[in-house]
Amino acid sequence: MTARKIFVTTALPYANGNFHIGHIMEYIQADTWVRAQRMQGSAVDFVGADDAHGAPIMIAAEKAGKTPQQFVADIAAGRKQYLDGFHIAFDNWSNTDSPENHELSRQIYLDLKKAGFIETRTIEQFFDPEKNMFLPDRFIKGECPRCHAKDQYGDNCEVCGAVYAPTELIHPFSALSGAKPVLKTSEHFFFKLSDPRAVEFLTEWTQDGKHVQPEVAAKIKEWFGVRTNPDGSTSEGLDDWDISRDAPYFGIEIPDAPGKYFYVWLDAPVGYLASLKNLLNQRGEDFDAYMADPRLEQYHFIGKDIITFHTLFWPAMLKFSGRKTPTRICVHGFMTVNNGEKMSKSRGTGLDPLKYLSLGMNPEWLRYYLGAKLNGRNEDIDFNPEDFMLRVNSDLIGKYVNIASRAAGFIAKRFGGRLGAVSEDGQALLAQLREAKDAIVAAYEARDTARAAREIMLLCDRVNAYVDANKPWELAKKEGMEARLQDVCSTCIEAFRILTIYLRPILPGVAAEVANFLIVPPESFADVGQPLGKDHQIGEYQHLMQRVDPKQLEALFEPPAAPVAEAVKPGGEEIAETISIDDFAKIDLRIARIVECKPVEGSTKLLQLTLDVGEGKTRNVFSGIASMYQPEQLQGKLTVMVANLAPRKMKFGISEGMVLAASHADEKAQPGIYVLEPFPGAAPGMKIH
Ligand code: MSP
Ligand code: ZN
Repeated sequence: MTARKIFVTTALPYANGNFHIGHIMEYIQADTWVRAQRMQGSAVDFVGADDAHGAPIMIAAEKAGKTPQQFVADIAAGRKQYLDGFHIAFDNWSNTDSPENHELSRQIYLDLKKAGFIETRTIEQFFDPEKNMFLPDRFIKGECPRCHAKDQYGDNCEVCGAVYAPTELIHPFSALSGAKPVLKTSEHFFFKLSDPRAVEFLTEWTQDGKHVQPEVAAKIKEWFGVRTNPDGSTSEGLDDWDISRDAPYFGIEIPDAPGKYFYVWLDAPVGYLASLKNLLNQRGEDFDAYMADPRLEQYHFIGKDIITFHTLFWPAMLKFSGRKTPTRICVHGFMTVNNGEKMSKSRGTGLDPLKYLSLGMNPEWLRYYLGAKLNGRNEDIDFNPEDFMLRVNSDLIGKYVNIASRAAGFIAKRFGGRLGAVSEDGQALLAQLREAKDAIVAAYEARDTARAAREIMLLCDRVNAYVDANKPWELAKKEGMEARLQDVCSTCIEAFRILTIYLRPILPGVAAEVANFLIVPPESFADVGQPLGKDHQIGEYQHLMQRVDPKQLEALFEPPAAPVAEAVKPGGEEIAETISIDDFAKIDLRIARIVECKPVEGSTKLLQLTLDVGEGKTRNVFSGIASMYQPEQLQGKLTVMVANLAPRKMKFGISEGMVLAASHADEKAQPGIYVLEPFPGAAPGMKIH
């Protein structure tokens, strides 16, 4: 049998936030599958990328005062710590704004156009009359036209998964301004999914039992049926897909259509191919030749919320642009925490992956816990802290690691680290372990890691029963039982090696440590049939894994900061009564340059400041900050002043305003007063809003 050649991806995360635990779950699932494939000899390329485009990222970047490119690069810079931290080994990580993606997306579009699948149409679209721009889908909210869930985005419903046009939303409003959007016309580009060729192809492709799980196929089937539209009319088959957006938009400009951009979901999946191409370029391999290999399989791991894009739009884009279609779309459900509601992409989660790592929690605990729950079906799974602790402690420590720790000491102390011959009963046990290989490999193949874990734990139970029956700790005390002790412990070590190979896709870190300890690289599933053998010298055993400590879990779910209780007085005084924005607007705060600063004769408290507020003349201000600053420290600096305070006659002269400074309410307990200084870039006269 020739080795399989597989190209694997996970969904490309939006580059407007850090990873949350749902992303990590998806990557762990895919990474485990990839590792299991490689252990069978498959040649796998596993790639990811940031999904860089779209209006939300453009708007977020603008808010952050960055270019969208810089904004995306900053998010990308934070990815590695999560991936390395959870032993997720992508071969490449690119982004959808790469030159490869620009080129491939345009090419695919042009090929679709040539095949007669692109059409332009003038449509009415929502326009924000306050912001003066066409509203991106994600910035129109309203009620889902299908399931009537409230507060849904303009492109698809997070509750029922429906995909629709923003104009179909019930009671729409602009999320940018809150304004009721108005309809305005614009020319848009459409991918003609209503074409009978597309309907025929997709019906077959989604329903032939080869490309998606049965429960996913059933869901997709509903989308082909007769539907009632919001206006009461009915449609059958598939709707055409609007693939363009008007400037301003962060995306890829449509060839020969200035001011028109591909909708982010058009170029996002092309990013899979672009990241692969980027990887192949680095390796000096040819992308077209790679894709043309008839053996090549293409697997996409995704969550249930983006099924439409991956089982209708994406295969159709590939098919009708004359390209290879995906082999499989592997859909997983959503992860929840503490039976919590679905962790929304935008609202984040209850389990912070970086906090998990920073508490010193072992990443392989999470890999195992999730692996033991994921069964390859489109089902939600819940992270439950008690369940997590029980699972990890009883399975990984109590059953698996226990085997090595029970046997390794005797082999080291009594036999100088050398293994002995394994007699018949030991061989019989090991044969049972080896026989389980095909079932375990098949479970991994089906992404049923829950079944793989179950099978492996049953094998651990058998090995532990063998240990309990033979009681090496008693053999060790008996005269003349040396050979049996070595036999029993060698059986355990060999069993542990086999079990480690079986667990390796889930626990790559532990497997690497075991390899060091056994002085053999447990690499492929085929290696289960290559026993260490008599006289093999093993290394020093070091404890492979700690138990989960309930304190760690407590800390993990501890809210980041206690909410401010009513009795709390920040800075020594309660927050003042609420004022309106109009009240605040009465105070005219301005940036001022301290052109001169002098001590005040006869006062230990005051400094005399000469301030330039950009008025073409200077102002004289007395400030009670002499206890903290030498005059020369302040000279030339910028600060903030109240510019419309009524002038005040003081003992030493007239003060024409007030400089802002911070201090604790209790001056005696916490002395010190601190002048405010603006960030670089501020200039005298600028108003503070
Ligand atoms: N950018 C798109 C995907 C483009 S693919 C060409 C996107 N990004 S996302 O960041 O919102 O989601 C990325 C992946 O994370 C998706 O597969 C999504 O289903 C998955 N998850 C998001 N929240 C999740 C959970 N709570 N649990 C499990 N997976 C979840 O969609
Ligand atoms: Zn809905």
